[in-house]
Amino acid sequence: MGAFPPPPVNTIDWSNVGFRVREVNGHIESTYSVHTGKWTPIKYVADPYMRIHGMAPALNYGQQAYEGLKAFRLPGDNDIAIFRPDRNAVRLQHSAEVACMPPVPVELFLEAVKAAVALNAGYVPPHETGAAMYIRPQIYGSSAQLGLSAPEEYTFCVFVIPTGVYHGVHPVKALILDEFDRAAPNGTGHAKVGGNYAPVLRWSDKARTEGYGITLHLDSARHEDIDEFSTSGFIGVKTGSGGSDDITLVVPDSKCVIDSVTSSSVLTLAQSYGWKVEKRVIKYAELPSFSEVFAAGTAAALVPIRSITRRGTSGFATGANVTKTEGAETVTYIPEGQEDAGPVCLKVLTDLKGIQLGKKEDKFGWRFAV
Ligand code: COI
Repeated sequence: MGAFPPPPVNTIDWSNVGFRVREVNGHIESTYSVHTGKWTPIKYVADPYMRIHGMAPALNYGQQAYEGLKAFRLPGDNDIAIFRPDRNAVRLQHSAEVACMPPVPVELFLEAVKAAVALNAGYVPPHETGAAMYIRPQIYGSSAQLGLSAPEEYTFCVFVIPTGVYHGVHPVKALILDEFDRAAPNGTGHAKVGGNYAPVLRWSDKARTEGYGITLHLDSARHEDIDEFSTSGFIGVKTGSGGSDDITLVVPDSKCVIDSVTSSSVLTLAQSYGWKVEKRVIKYAELPSFSEVFAAGTAAALVPIRSITRRGTSGFATGANVTKTEGAETVTYIPEGQEDAGPVCLKVLTDLKGIQLGKKEDKFGWRFAV
């Protein structure tokens, strides 16, 4: 065996990684039996396929949950670090509980994630590209079960894929979805389960054909408060009159949103600069008062939002950044033709990526060595 980590493979054009499935060496699996009450030791499987009974509740009743996190090659390409896997481990436990599945112990999660990255280390993109290995842990009810009750077996697996950032790096236009509610008020919106994602596909595909790169959800009960983007968390920026450091980042306080690791990392960075952070209800009508909005997620990193459009409403006061046309209103943060993110987004993104890629000191203990 050669030195670890191996250099990046030469079968991928690293200057154009994109966000799509690419084949790697293999994945990690472990199974849980209700008879033993234990997870099996992790096993490496040298292909991307899962053997699963057709009557598994995962396939029939949507009994599954998943995670998204990333590994990065550090300067010199000689070390690999995973960003905050301990947070994803805890979040997967929460999602598993919501979908009535046993928790994956944090230690097992960390071991499996590290093993999946290590066994595919040649697919971690070169440091200089700024790209990452996207890690996708999953848990699902895997044994045959016809009645609507708990199965006897569950599978935990970890897949990895080299990726660039989802949504690209340029500002995107957002569309508020009023025709479709992502999560019921007392439902599963706070869990990372597939059922919160698949039904959005038709709406986000349609929005894309209309020029909107991302869709935004309001609270389902009243359509008055901001919840989250379909793929990522919402962060609004308030700029005060006290100079360039008079900044407040505002994130939604809603029981229908996923606890975003990226968003919480951004808030920690903001506090370390002396900025203020607020987690509170964000009213739709408040959108024009933000100087910047960005979406925060593992796959997305930070996506600067050019504008937010809502159809069939007139909830905004008239303002310099508000445009009203027949049947829609839009608040604009980044004018057409301008391709750079706003200064706040740029600063936190630079620091976040700096820590992830090992270019900045890891003051918060976020990098886990592989
Ligand atoms: C992630 O950002 O990790 C996600 O799971 C979002 C997904 C739609 C790509």
